[in-house]
Amino acid sequence: MGIYFCDCSNTEKAEEEEKEKETSSINEIPLKEIKSKQLLSEQSFKIDKSIIIGKGDGDIREKYKIGRKLGKGSFGEVYLSTDKKTNKKVAIKVLPKTKSHKENINSEIVNEIDILKTLEHQNIVKIYEFYEGKNNFYIVTEYCNEGNLKRKITQNEFLSEIETAAIMFQLFSAISYCNTKNIMHRDLKLENIMLNDKTLFGLPFIKVIDFGTAKIYEKEYENLVIGTLFYMAPEVFNKKYTEKCDMWSLGVILYYLFTKKFPFQGPTKPKLIHSIENCNYNINLGPLKKASDELKDLIHQLFKKNINERISVNEALNHSWFKNLKIKEKLSELTTEQINECLNNIKKYNPDKVIQQASIAFLIHNFPHIEGIKIANSLYLKIDHNNNGVIEKNEFIKELTNLFEEQNQKIDENYILTLFDKIDADCSGYIEHEEFIRAAANKNDLLNESILKNCFEYFDKNKNGEITVDEIKKTFKNYKEKITEDEFYNIVKECDLDKNGVIDFNEFKIVIEKILI
Ligand SMILES: Nc1ncnc2c1ncn2[C@@H]1O[C@H](COP(=O)(O)OP(=O)(O)O)[C@@H](O)[C@H]1O
Ligand SMILES: [Mg+2]
Repeated sequence: MGIYFCDCSNTEKAEEEEKEKETSSINEIPLKEIKSKQLLSEQSFKIDKSIIIGKGDGDIREKYKIGRKLGKGSFGEVYLSTDKKTNKKVAIKVLPKTKSHKENINSEIVNEIDILKTLEHQNIVKIYEFYEGKNNFYIVTEYCNEGNLKRKITQNEFLSEIETAAIMFQLFSAISYCNTKNIMHRDLKLENIMLNDKTLFGLPFIKVIDFGTAKIYEKEYENLVIGTLFYMAPEVFNKKYTEKCDMWSLGVILYYLFTKKFPFQGPTKPKLIHSIENCNYNINLGPLKKASDELKDLIHQLFKKNINERISVNEALNHSWFKNLKIKEKLSELTTEQINECLNNIKKYNPDKVIQQASIAFLIHNFPHIEGIKIANSLYLKIDHNNNGVIEKNEFIKELTNLFEEQNQKIDENYILTLFDKIDADCSGYIEHEEFIRAAANKNDLLNESILKNCFEYFDKNKNGEITVDEIKKTFKNYKEKITEDEFYNIVKECDLDKNGVIDFNEFKIVIEKILI
C-alpha cells in the first residue's frame, strides 16, 4: 500500500534510451514530450492511490450530512450521505463496535476496510475513507444509485439474455481481478451486487459490495463455513474449499437473474443443504426453457460439484455465451471520436510534479462519476484483452498500437513503453484501473472551484489556505523514511511559484489545471 519505490534512477541507461528515441522516427510525437518523460522517471518514488484512502479525523458528521437508510445487512446499516462541501453523494456503512461478538465484528470491519483499500476495479465499489467513533466504525464508499440486484429482479420484468450476460460478464471480471490479488469474496449474492448508472450503451452497470467476509487466500484449503446458504457451494459445508466457491455462487446468481428463482431450494435448512449437495436443479425452469444452449451450458459448468471440473473464472469470461452475444464488444463500444479523445489525453498526460501526481490520484478516485470517466472505462475494458482487470505491458503495447493505427497514427513501440511507464504510477509492471483513467479520461469536469478546493484541503490539513512542508509530511506520513528531507522541500518548491515557502490555492490551481486541461 502507498507509495511504491522502485529503481527508476538508472540515468546512464536512460540517457542511452533517450538518444535512441531521438534518432528513431516517431510520427506526430514531439520530442519535448519524450524529454519530459525523462524527468518523471528520475523521480525516486512513485505515487499509489492508497495514499489517499485514510482514516478521517474527528466526527464524521462534521464532514458528512447523514441521510436516509439505503439498506441493512447482517453486520451494518448503510446510509445515503452528502459531503457538505462538495455535495458529493456517498454511502456510509455504520458498523457498531459493541455487539455480543465484539471481537469478531471488529475483525470483520478491519478486514473489509483493508481488502477494499487494495481493490481497484470498475465493478467493485470504491472506498473513500473510514472513521472510528466511540461506538461505531464508519466506512465511506461510493454511492450506487440504482439499488441492489435483488430489488431490481424482484421489481422488474425478467431480464433478457443480453442484460443477464452483461451483468455476469462484469461479475466474472470483478472476481477474476480479485483472484489476481488472491482474494475470494465468499458472500456473492444479489444483495451484495449494486447497480449504478447504465453503461454508455444502456446496459446495466454493476458494482460488487460487502467485502466483510472476503479473505486473502493462500495455498491451503479454507475451512470456515461462511456465506449465505442459498448461494453456498457444497464443498463449503465440507469445510474444504478454495476460491472456486465464488464460481458456484455466481452460478446461483446467474440462475436467479434469469428465472427469479433459486436453483436449490428446500423447506428446511437440512433439505436445502441436501438439494445443494445433490446438485439438483431444473435447467428448464420458466424462461430457461427458451434460453440459448450456451446459457444453459454455462450454468452446468458453474454447478460442477467437483471443483477441478468447475469452470474457472477466466474460462467463464471466454465462454461462447458471451462470445455469441458479443458482450465485451457491447460493453466497450466507443465512437471513433471518443477513442481519439482518450488517445490524445494519454499522449499529453504528464504529471511531472509530485503534487500533480497525488492530486490526480485523489481527484479520479474521489469523483468517479464525471462523464469523461465512463468513456475511459470502456476503453480500459477494450485494452484489457484477457479481462483480468489489469492491463499487462504486452496487452498495452499490442492494443494501443492497434488503436493508434486504426486512427491512422503510426507509433513507435518505445514511445508506447514511455506511455506505459508514465501511467503505471506505482511501478507494479501492470496498469490498474484508476492509473489508466487518470491518463485517459477527459478531466475538464474536474476544473471546478469546489472540487479543486476539496483537493487542496487534502494537503492543507489545518485549512488555513496554505500548504506547508509540514503538511506535505503529514500527507505522505506513511512514507516518511523513504522520502528525504530535501525531497519534501522539493515537493513544495515545484509548485511554490512566488517562492515564499508555501503553496497557496492560486499556485495550486495553476499547477493542477495543467494536468486537467
Ligand atoms: N455503496 C452503496 N450504495 C447504495 N446502497 C448500498 C451501498 N452499500 C450497501 N448498500 C445497501 O445496503 C445493504 C447492506 O450493505 P452491505 O455492505 O451488504 O452490509 P452487510 O455487510 O451488513 O451485509 C445492501 O444490500 C444495499 O442494499
Ligand atoms: Mg451484504
